[in-house]
Amino acid sequence: MTPKNKPEVRSRPSPGKVSTARVPRVLIEEWLPAAAIGVECIRERSTGQQPPDKRLHVWWARRPLTVSRAAVLGSLLPADFPRDVFERLLGFGKPGKELVEIRRFMDTGIRLPGGFGCDRAFKRGLLPGDLAYARECAATLWGEALTVIDPMAGGGSIPLESARLGFLTLANEYNPVACSVLEATVDYPFRFGETLAAAARRWGETWEERISIRLGVFFPPYRLAKIHAYIFARTVPCPDTQHETPLVPDWHLLKPKSGRRVVAEPIVDAKRGTWSVRIREVGRGAGQLGEAPAPTYSDGKGVSLFTGRQIPADYIKAMAQAGKMRSRLYAVAVKRPLGGLDFAPPEPADLKALDEAERELARLRTGWERANVIPTEKIPVGDKTGEPMARGIVMWADMFTPRQLLAMGVLVEELRRLRPEIVKVEGEELGEAVVHLLSLVLDKFVNYNSVLASWHAPRAVMRSVFDRHDFAFKPTFAEMPSCNAGAGVAWSSDNVLEAFDSLARLPRNPESGPVTVSLGSATNLPQIIDGSITAVVADPPYADNVQYSELADFFYVWLKRTQGHRRPEWFSTYLCEHDEEAAVNISRHREDGSKPSKKGKRDGSTSTAKAKAHAFYQDLMLRTFRECRRILLDYGVLTVMFTHKKQEAWAALFTSLIRAGFMITATWPVKTESEHSLHQAKKNAAQSTVLLVARKRPARSGIGYYDSAMEREIHERARATAERLAREGLNPVDQLVGCFGPAMEVYSRFDEVRTDIGEPVAVDRAIGAAADAVSAWRIERLAGSGLEGVEPEGRFALLCWDVLGAAEFRFNEAKLLGHAVDMDVDQLVVAGLVTKSGDKVQMLSARERRRDRALEPEEVSETLFGTVTERKKRTKKDVQRVHPNDPQFRTALDACHALALRYLEAGKGAAGIGSARALIRQQRWSKDSAVARLMTALVQAAPMALRHDRGKKSAAARFPEFLAWHSLLEPLFGIEPPDWSEKEPPQTQLFSGSEDEDIEEGEDEADEEEE
Ligand SMILES: C[S@@+](CC[C@H](N)C(=O)[O-])C[C@H]1O[C@@H](n2cnc3c(N)ncnc32)[C@H](O)[C@@H]1O
Repeated sequence: MTPKNKPEVRSRPSPGKVSTARVPRVLIEEWLPAAAIGVECIRERSTGQQPPDKRLHVWWARRPLTVSRAAVLGSLLPADFPRDVFERLLGFGKPGKELVEIRRFMDTGIRLPGGFGCDRAFKRGLLPGDLAYARECAATLWGEALTVIDPMAGGGSIPLESARLGFLTLANEYNPVACSVLEATVDYPFRFGETLAAAARRWGETWEERISIRLGVFFPPYRLAKIHAYIFARTVPCPDTQHETPLVPDWHLLKPKSGRRVVAEPIVDAKRGTWSVRIREVGRGAGQLGEAPAPTYSDGKGVSLFTGRQIPADYIKAMAQAGKMRSRLYAVAVKRPLGGLDFAPPEPADLKALDEAERELARLRTGWERANVIPTEKIPVGDKTGEPMARGIVMWADMFTPRQLLAMGVLVEELRRLRPEIVKVEGEELGEAVVHLLSLVLDKFVNYNSVLASWHAPRAVMRSVFDRHDFAFKPTFAEMPSCNAGAGVAWSSDNVLEAFDSLARLPRNPESGPVTVSLGSATNLPQIIDGSITAVVADPPYADNVQYSELADFFYVWLKRTQGHRRPEWFSTYLCEHDEEAAVNISRHREDGSKPSKKGKRDGSTSTAKAKAHAFYQDLMLRTFRECRRILLDYGVLTVMFTHKKQEAWAALFTSLIRAGFMITATWPVKTESEHSLHQAKKNAAQSTVLLVARKRPARSGIGYYDSAMEREIHERARATAERLAREGLNPVDQLVGCFGPAMEVYSRFDEVRTDIGEPVAVDRAIGAAADAVSAWRIERLAGSGLEGVEPEGRFALLCWDVLGAAEFRFNEAKLLGHAVDMDVDQLVVAGLVTKSGDKVQMLSARERRRDRALEPEEVSETLFGTVTERKKRTKKDVQRVHPNDPQFRTALDACHALALRYLEAGKGAAGIGSARALIRQQRWSKDSAVARLMTALVQAAPMALRHDRGKKSAAARFPEFLAWHSLLEPLFGIEPPDWSEKEPPQTQLFSGSEDEDIEEGEDEADEEEE
């Protein structure tokens, strides 16, 4: 290391000496109504009512608008900005605390008439006075030239909200499809407003008419009714008979949770080697089928309809790759005149139309390929493309049946023909924007017009190609008629143009202007000069969560043909560029990534490729953050959104930021998914989006020492933050995550942190210290009289129920909490508290821990207290169990379980209490014993779902010990238990003046793209 770049070594700086005094703290560094923002984010996602940006075009991992707005606004406003004005600017129709209260109440499972009693935040108008005041306050901090950038803007939630607030906004993105979506989302609504939607509607109708003229004949009406969807099965030749046999994983056509179930029943004509279907209802009535026909496809393997024999997965793939996988129309979903659907087998006219469409495509195909109408680009080898490629889908045009491809070709051709007319009438600028919107209509349609779109029997709707983030093979698929009978293009057009119209009408600052969109890698933003940006608000991709460019190619090949002319600089490449894409994509790092071997597997070691892919991603993130540092004002703010539960992910992100020259100043978890699952206490699955705030660390901040002073400061900060977050209504797991930021601030003030003897200290250590501090504080809160004498096992169980609120959680969460009580997960397994399977850790109930028989006194010392050596391979036999009649108990937790078992096994009530009382007498457990203190704390920590028995399958029925302990506290120890009676709804005035047309409670999470 040269003296020049050698970090300045400080001799034992006392924490807090690195001055940030000239940088006034911004709001998001000091406070945020995070719980209420979470409530609004969940409201945003309710079914069928997603915000319009989400309905305009597919983009993956889009963020809710409310959290995006909070990130932008919180990064620009001073910390002393008034709470009520801030909440109004976020669009809250009620004070945040009330929103949280209402949500909490709904989560108990009670429906509230009128829902929240106010519109969802993103829909609510902005008061001019509030906007002016915010601008004035922001200008006091930053001056008038205030600029926000999202360097990885994706579908544009962040820039949209920034622009709606009236800030000068830039949106950069690496992917051209996203850029195209961004232009329509964050530029056009501000530039053209509703005029564009109206013009696009007019031209859309002309386009549809012309399409119908050419395609109508290929979509005959079914007995004059309208067709909702055609349902197909993929077929392969039966290995024994060579007859075409279908691969159908479920013959249901209609399979609601309750009500009429309808199936297609295959009828085989073995002599002729053909099959057809009969439509049957499932049930016990006359003429009904007792149960659905057996599936003919499962786990990649088939079953021949003709022989009943299994068809191996390799055979199916080989047939597909040899071009012998075909598709067969077997049912038609027909719209009833008065609503609802009927199902029917295809008529001869339907089958004839398919043949004719195939012939028509064959007639046009060569010309279309020459004129670049249909996508003949090869599908690249990738992490997500393996599945279709293994099924013989090797070019993008193969994603379609002949009729689907014919429809797509006609759509492209007619749009191209229409373009000069549109431009002539509307002028270049508006005209090209109209063509652009119509190309998004085509994209909406193509998402439902491919062999990867499917039929969803539970809700009787079509599912788009991207109902998941991949190209999963669909053994059965559905086709949306493009025109005439079912008018799929018209539906797509309505959908997209309505979304655009709504976008243009979203309330916004009248001074808002269009966002400037740029294509490029966030690692290099040459158009932006050094130190010119006030706030960078970024939502980077996380590792391999989404393979953006691989998925986006599906749309790229069409957008390039429909509107690529507008932006040749974006659409001149063969497919989406990915050299600089921030993703962990293993295929790109295999030694010979381009050449699949004969077996379809690629060469090169997976583990090496994986390591390279991770290193590449990490480096890209580092370079991105360095570029963010370059463009930021010296005292500018970087706010990063992040959704990941794994601690390694946190550590990696913190490390990149710190290495790029940032110091972390805050972290805010915002619950963006409903906590229903938490309340079922099964899985701790709800996602939080974390907002992480960072500032430029002054150059040459030197080395910090991880000594007791630093650790103490981390503990103090973490604990103080957790206390504050608890007051603000955040749940314990979010309190834990929320304390990472302030703790990190202590650690990240320095270029490097080392131990006394000069060894580098990784970020994890500081995260661990923060988690320990919060855990200790949570335990203190739960156990008023302390947990002296309670073993780590009891503390661990307590923390899991309190912090994670669920019986199942991830390994890393268990590890984090285990660390706080000095136990690793393996020790917990041996202690018989949890089971581990892959990444999942499951808490065991008292019943699951019960041994068949009680121990004899002479077995006690070996069984309960015998040593389990570290080196010995632990077997099931080592796992500690408990019996209510054991003469002795190893831990206070075992004792609590034994008491609960006694109570339950004696039939609860007085008998149960008597049996448990006999045990405490025998063991001399008093009110002050560790057993009584732990039991009290466990009752305090019990998640809502464990407090009320709601039937056999409820969490309370699986863990009945909580209700048992609750009943035992008073009679055994004279300790008054907490009130677990069901609460009345909050005061009715909270819900008066309801504007809410919808009641969110109980609604599923929205499917992004569903008819
Ligand atoms: C999580 S998404 C952003 C989603 C966005 N906030 C929204 O709500 O729609 C991350 C984005 O980063 C983009 N990206 C990946 N690598 C990039 C790079 N090197 N430069 C800029 N953007 C990149 C991806 O294409 C993706 O759109």
